[in-house]
Amino acid sequence: MSDIESMTSDWLSRIEGAADLGALEAERVAALGKQGAVTQLLKTLGGMTPEQRQAEGPRIHGLREKVSDAIAARKAALEAAELDRRLATETLDMTLPISTGAQGSVHPVSQVMDELAEIFADLGFSVATGPEIEDDWRNFTALNIPESHPARAMHDTFYFGEDKAKDGKRMLLRTHTSPVQIRTMTSQEPPIYIIAPGRTYRSDSDATHTPMFHQVEGLVIDKGIHLGHLKWTLETFLKAYFERDDIVLRLRPSYFPFTEPSVEVDVGFTMQNGRRVLGGSDGWMELLGSGMVHPRVIAACGLDPNVWQGFAFGCGIDRLAMLKYGMDDLRAFFDADLRWLRHYGFRSLDVPTLSGGVGA
Ligand code: PHE
Repeated sequence: MSDIESMTSDWLSRIEGAADLGALEAERVAALGKQGAVTQLLKTLGGMTPEQRQAEGPRIHGLREKVSDAIAARKAALEAAELDRRLATETLDMTLPISTGAQGSVHPVSQVMDELAEIFADLGFSVATGPEIEDDWRNFTALNIPESHPARAMHDTFYFGEDKAKDGKRMLLRTHTSPVQIRTMTSQEPPIYIIAPGRTYRSDSDATHTPMFHQVEGLVIDKGIHLGHLKWTLETFLKAYFERDDIVLRLRPSYFPFTEPSVEVDVGFTMQNGRRVLGGSDGWMELLGSGMVHPRVIAACGLDPNVWQGFAFGCGIDRLAMLKYGMDDLRAFFDADLRWLRHYGFRSLDVPTLSGGVGA
């Protein structure tokens, strides 16, 4: 065996024998470092005759290459073994209290959605959802808003292009959560008691309107349901949500194509130190739209309106959050400004419960 060959096998077995990353690094320095054996050997090329260099050059470079390949392979193997060892030995105690410096907080909109789910779960409602990209039939037609209806123009709808058309109608971004009424009535048997919180879209933007906003829909379909049930449900919900017993509601006749009769619900407020505080009835604030589900809507979903009746309501979640937690500009909700989020955000582990106070 030539010198180079024996040197190669010598180094390869030393590298293979390195028991840990520290030992391997020591071998690397001994072979390839500035004063390393292989480096020294490379330096001898300079003093050789061209013929010698032609013969020895490839062999010495070959040695260096084999040694550095072997070091890289050994390093990868040792690192993988180290990772396996750590995975096998390190444990995470999930029962330890979290560090108080934990980052992140729950956005007020998410917090309010959680509070709504909690309050309505107590009243026997479950949470339903629907897609934000909706079809024309569910957003409008089935809700008794036919093509020629002026209510369509009031919705400032974002439409998709012709290529997205289904049944010849363009798809759209839902303008309200009411299409979830249709989705629920066409997919499950009554009795139905649901709320449907989610994102909605209209082409509108100022201090109190953003093109994307949040609504919560409520829907009850059962036998013998009347306006009294609607009023009691809204009163119970708003008292729990605002955590005050002196919440007063005012029902005003209104119009929505999908409810008959339709009622706009105002909530009373009192003035305290120049600020409006919910409760009492010095003045009124418009809060939500509601009414008895129109028999045509029930029929469009394949149910018999002579058997099934119900009520529905739709309420802006962002507005609910502003009223309860005292923000005055809706646009700040969606600016993703960390200072705002830190100020108004909620601790991620403070899950709202009715017993603890939903807004605690
Ligand atoms: N969908 C209506 C809106 O967005 C609100 C509403 C829902 C009214 C359900 C009545 C019943 O304005």
